[in-house]
Formats: sequence, C-alpha cells, structure tokens
Amino acid sequence: MPAAGSGTGTGTGTAEWYRHFGTVDAPGSSPCYADWSLHIADDPELIARIDQWPYNKRQPLLMLAAARFLGVRVSPYPEFRRFLDEHWAEVSRTVMSRATQTNEVGRCATLLPSLGAIAAAEGRPLALIEVGASAGLALFPDRYSYEFDDGVTVTRLSPGGSGERRGRDGSGAPPLGSDGLPDGSGGLPEPPVLPCRTAGPVPLPDALPEVVWRAGIDLNPLDVRNPDDVAWLEALIWPEQEFRRERLRRAIAVAREHPPLLVAGDLNEQLLSLAGQAPADAALVVFHSAVMGYVSADGRARFRAAMQGLAHDCGCHWLSNEGETVIIQEDGSAVLPEMNPSRIRGNFLLQHNGQPVAITGPHGQSLDWL
Ligand SMILES: C[S@@+](CC[C@H](N)C(=O)[O-])C[C@H]1O[C@@H](n2cnc3c(N)ncnc32)[C@H](O)[C@@H]1O
Repeated sequence: MPAAGSGTGTGTGTAEWYRHFGTVDAPGSSPCYADWSLHIADDPELIARIDQWPYNKRQPLLMLAAARFLGVRVSPYPEFRRFLDEHWAEVSRTVMSRATQTNEVGRCATLLPSLGAIAAAEGRPLALIEVGASAGLALFPDRYSYEFDDGVTVTRLSPGGSGERRGRDGSGAPPLGSDGLPDGSGGLPEPPVLPCRTAGPVPLPDALPEVVWRAGIDLNPLDVRNPDDVAWLEALIWPEQEFRRERLRRAIAVAREHPPLLVAGDLNEQLLSLAGQAPADAALVVFHSAVMGYVSADGRARFRAAMQGLAHDCGCHWLSNEGETVIIQEDGSAVLPEMNPSRIRGNFLLQHNGQPVAITGPHGQSLDWL
C-alpha cells in the first residue's frame, strides 16, 4: 500500500496500489482479485474514476468488496468491467458509506493461548474489551472450537470440554461435514472450528478460559442482526475463500444468541469509561487485531498511555495483534525481535503487555511462538 498521500492528485499512486494488491496481496488467496486488480491498474479510465473518491476510499479491497456486495460474479475482467459501468453509482455509494471492517474470527485461535495463560495466572475468569471490534465476533473465544496442529499432534479444544490430543490422521475425531466442519444436528449451525498451525512452545491451555463479560469499541460497530451488515461482512471475504465465509456464518450464529455490548466511537475516547464497567472480580484484557494501521501515530501513543494507566490501576492485560508496520513503541522504534525478516513479512506480531510473544498468521491460521 503506498504511503498516505502518494495516491492523491494523479492516478499513478492508485494504479500502483492496485498493481501491488494484484501482485503481492491477492495471489495465493484470490486469483480473481489478483486478475481484476492488475487489469484495473492498466485501465486509466477506471483509475481516473476511482481517483474521484477520497484517498482512503480508493483501497482495492474496499472497491472490490463493494462490487461483490452488489452482486458481481467471479468472472473474466471484461464482465467485471461491464458490471462496474452498469452499477458505478451504486459502487460509489457503497464505497463512500462502508469501510474495510473484515471481522476475522480465525484470529481467536492466535489469541486463545494468551487468554488461557492470563486466566490461569490470575486464577479468575476474564472480562474482555476489544478495540476496533467490527461486529465483535472475536469477543467469543470461549464459544468456538479450535484445532492446533504442530505437525505431529492435533490438539482440539471445545466449549465445555477439556483438550484432546490426537495424531494428525484424526483417528477418533468427530465426523466432519463436506465443508470440513462438524455437522450440525439441525437448527443452529455448530460453532466454527478454528484450525491453527503452531510452531515453538505454544502454551496451549487444557480447557477454554471462562469469559464472564465482553464488550467492544468501534468507530462503526456492525450488527450481527442486521442483514445488510452481515452481507457486507461476507463481501469483505475474498471470493474464493468459502471456508472463511462458512466460519463467519457460524460465528455470527454464536454472536446472535447474545450480541455483545458494542460502543460506537473512537477507541481512545471510549476505552476508560468502558473499562470502568468491567466486573472488578474478573481479569480485564483489552485486545486488538488489525486496527492500529487505521490509527494515527499520535492516537497509538495515546492508546499506549491509556493501557499503561489501566495496567497500573487495575492490572489490566493488553494483547496487541498487529502487522509489522504499525508495531511502534514509545520511543518511536519498532519492536521487532531479532529474526529473519521473512518470518514476520505478511504476518502479525502478537504482544502481551508490550512484550513480543508470537508471530501470527493474519487470519489466525498460524501461531509461531517466540
Ligand atoms: C480490519 S477491521 C478488524 C476488525 C477486528 N479487530 C478483527 O480482527 O476481525 C478494523 C476495525 O477497526 C475499526 N477502527 C479503526 N479505527 C478505529 C478507532 N480509532 N476507534 C475505534 N475503531 C476503529 C474499524 O471501524 C474496523 O471495524
């Protein structure tokens, strides 16, 4: 993604943005988005139209998700381009009224061992606050199932059960549906199973931690009961990643049972008053994933200071799960531990109270403990 401002004025920055997305971000995850983005980058008339939007609205994922939201099919570029021509006013309206708010429930798998370790060390249940929560799906880590695979053993954790360890052949594991998820028995779908490849000494808990209170903050909370918001969450998932859409639907069914308290507003404005509502007999954890990239350096510094205050006042824990470019410390330096740069590239760094603890897959698919 080009630096802020590089896309203003001429279309060069925007074309490069789409070219980067089509060559670096999308391949491997979405051949369709890779193909469309590269064609867009070479389509000056379309780039000129995209440049009519404010800078932060030109991002490829937002524009492509808007087209998907409006019904464009996975198709060769000429068909996609025709769709844009026929629906440009609606695409523009959607881009202007929506934002990239992907709510990736898979990230719970990379947070779970830290949440389990905090609950065990504190000897009490957890109260959770997620800042930048989108629809709040990551606020239910105690309601999903997990499969941690270290290459030799698969450890399965489920609500109400204790951890089961099995060989990788899955011998004795419950039957899976054709989508690779457990079959529901009618009525509500089964909660999602979140698979995660692990490396290093990941402190897997024996059972899921108990969560007694959960709340989130977002500039624009999405509502799991609102069909338009749900359709937008689905559109934000890349077209070929049906497994992510499936687990999103299952997580939404969990969240709909007891929708979490979500406060609308800036994380720095809302954090302290929300933290004041958490039950005092629970261990408070504030966490965030894929959020700080949207917050200014000044906003991040204010947030860090607020977290230090909460740690001092009530022993609050802080879990930060963010991309390498936004892991900035008080003195302005980045806190990447000594490592081969390829280990972090394209991944997130998980920190507990400011200390790096793991490299995590951006969608929760891997957890590499430091
Ligand atoms: C990419 S989404 C990630 C959502 C969620 N954390 C997850 O991992 O699935 C980023 C979210 O942060 C929210 N956000 C960005 N800046 C914010 C701010 N200053 N205060 C509160 N929320 C913010 C956005 O509205 C969006 O819902």
